[in-house]
Amino acid sequence: MLNYRRSDTALPLRAGLPDLAARIRQNLPPDAHAGSEIIHTPEVLNMTPDYSLLCEQLCALAESSRDPIPVLANASALLYEAMENVNWVGFYLVRGGALLLGPFQGKAACVRIEKGRGVCGTAYAQDAVQLVPDVHAFPGHIACDSASNSEIVVPIHGPEGAVVGVLDIDSVLFDRFDAHDRAGLEELVSVLERELFPPA
Ligand code: SME
Repeated sequence: MLNYRRSDTALPLRAGLPDLAARIRQNLPPDAHAGSEIIHTPEVLNMTPDYSLLCEQLCALAESSRDPIPVLANASALLYEAMENVNWVGFYLVRGGALLLGPFQGKAACVRIEKGRGVCGTAYAQDAVQLVPDVHAFPGHIACDSASNSEIVVPIHGPEGAVVGVLDIDSVLFDRFDAHDRAGLEELVSVLERELFPPA
């Protein structure tokens, strides 16, 4: 989990949010403002991150732009840092009826996934979250990183309600994701939908 802390006094995690938003607006790196730092310590890492904090951080990051590319790039970085035991976090975006690789963190991945293929293509085709405890048991799973053993894929909807992309998170652990992750990530995706794909 990200922990925002002044150099001398520990502050609540939310203390860094206004500064973070301001820095992003000014095109400054989010973790370098004077007197404050983002630290990553094993003690604050948890298998279930603070999803409401992540949603607030994502809102702050989304203030910088309504263009999906930078916002999704920062969203993947945020999740990759905040979640323990994940080896790939990223987005596939619907292009021409298939999924095209979008912003991500992790190893290079397959660029195009047909609707209905693999875990991501199934989430797209069925418009349903895929919570997969063992990817090797999932018919047609596409192994971009052979280290992946479980994953969760959450569809992202556009203003008309159609699927416009998916959030895909992989783990080296079996059974890494549970109902809390599912609920938290659905909430996070609803922030992205509201910020990036609002009703016309
Ligand atoms: N696991 C995905 C493929 C994408 S990579 O894992 C990044 C799938 O089967 O849809």
